[in-house]
Amino acid sequence: MTMVCLNDFEEYAKKHLPKTTWDYYEAGADECTTRDDNLLAYKRIRFRPRILRDVSINDTRTTVLGTEISFPVGIAPTAFHCLAWHEGEIATARATEAVNTCYIASTYATCSVEEIAAAAPNGYRWFQLYLYQDRKLSEQIIRRVEALGYKALVFTVDVPYTGKRRNDIRNQFKLPPHLKVKNFEGMFQDPPTSQEVYGTPANTLDPSISWKDVSWLQSLTRLPIIIKGILTKEDAELAVEHGVQGIIVSNHGGRQLDGGPASIDCLPEIVDTVQGRIEIYMDGGIRTGSDVLKAIALGARCVFIGRPAIWGLAYKGDEGVKEVLQILHDEFRLSMALSGCRNVAEINRNLIQFSRL
Ligand code: FNR
Repeated sequence: MTMVCLNDFEEYAKKHLPKTTWDYYEAGADECTTRDDNLLAYKRIRFRPRILRDVSINDTRTTVLGTEISFPVGIAPTAFHCLAWHEGEIATARATEAVNTCYIASTYATCSVEEIAAAAPNGYRWFQLYLYQDRKLSEQIIRRVEALGYKALVFTVDVPYTGKRRNDIRNQFKLPPHLKVKNFEGMFQDPPTSQEVYGTPANTLDPSISWKDVSWLQSLTRLPIIIKGILTKEDAELAVEHGVQGIIVSNHGGRQLDGGPASIDCLPEIVDTVQGRIEIYMDGGIRTGSDVLKAIALGARCVFIGRPAIWGLAYKGDEGVKEVLQILHDEFRLSMALSGCRNVAEINRNLIQFSRL
């Protein structure tokens, strides 16, 4: 089978994964309005392409937090990769190391942070953090990722409670007994088996989290802190005032508040407010290289893909994730060239029909 675009991987995954697994990955909250709008919003944006600019050489490299990556696309944190491929996050880590981009490992990985680091010793990695009611659990995992060379903490703030995903309820979705949320092996009496849904207070995500916890994290670690799940200029301003190093504009792939905005639609007001004081990333609905170009033109430093990486895993493990990233890379480079951009620094808002937004 020749894989031409990311949708081909989606089709493959849908056909080959068990239905409950597919449903879990695909899920959005409630009526999936926001999940679907994440993609549709890109289709409403138009370029203002430039011509005759000698695009014989295109340089797709950029940096995040000062580290060079091969192109401005990384892997968003998603749970339970072993459901898609037997090696799980180990395969994802290998693929991102090979392509030289950033992998944000999820708290809910089915491989431990140690296994992920060992699988790709030269990979560039951040760790995605949820805060537990029992802060000692959070502190312990922070110490582990610091020691393992993860380069930033991505604090996910849009899950005080889990969004209502109808098919997961219908399917009574939970991890099969042979899989574990490996990061907590031996730490919980009763380790979680379904993302963000557990029994005992100690291992429940803390719905009381607030900006005070950002300061608490800063008192605990010297790792850069990136807040994931910001959708308004007000919260972006608060993030800057609290001294974090970056934000990810994200609605959790439409899995949390249904009826919230598409993440790409939030980018302009946030970029205008932040004014370059910290780095702004985004995720949600990236399916083509021209989507990447639009997000970078609207001011994102880098974008992250969630579901497409899982489809790649389901297709062929690390080879599949590599192929997904390679296709996005090639499409991004082609879109750059066809719109007259020779390098990432040349991509800016002038490339977009802004008055239409
Ligand atoms: C997620 N997401 C997520 N985010 C996070 O911070 N921690 C997590 O453990 C998870 N888990 C997770 C599982 C699955 C199956 C999905 C689809 C998503 C959200 C994820 O990081 C990202 O915001 C979205 O996936 C981006 O949207 P796309 O690229 O899937 O459209």
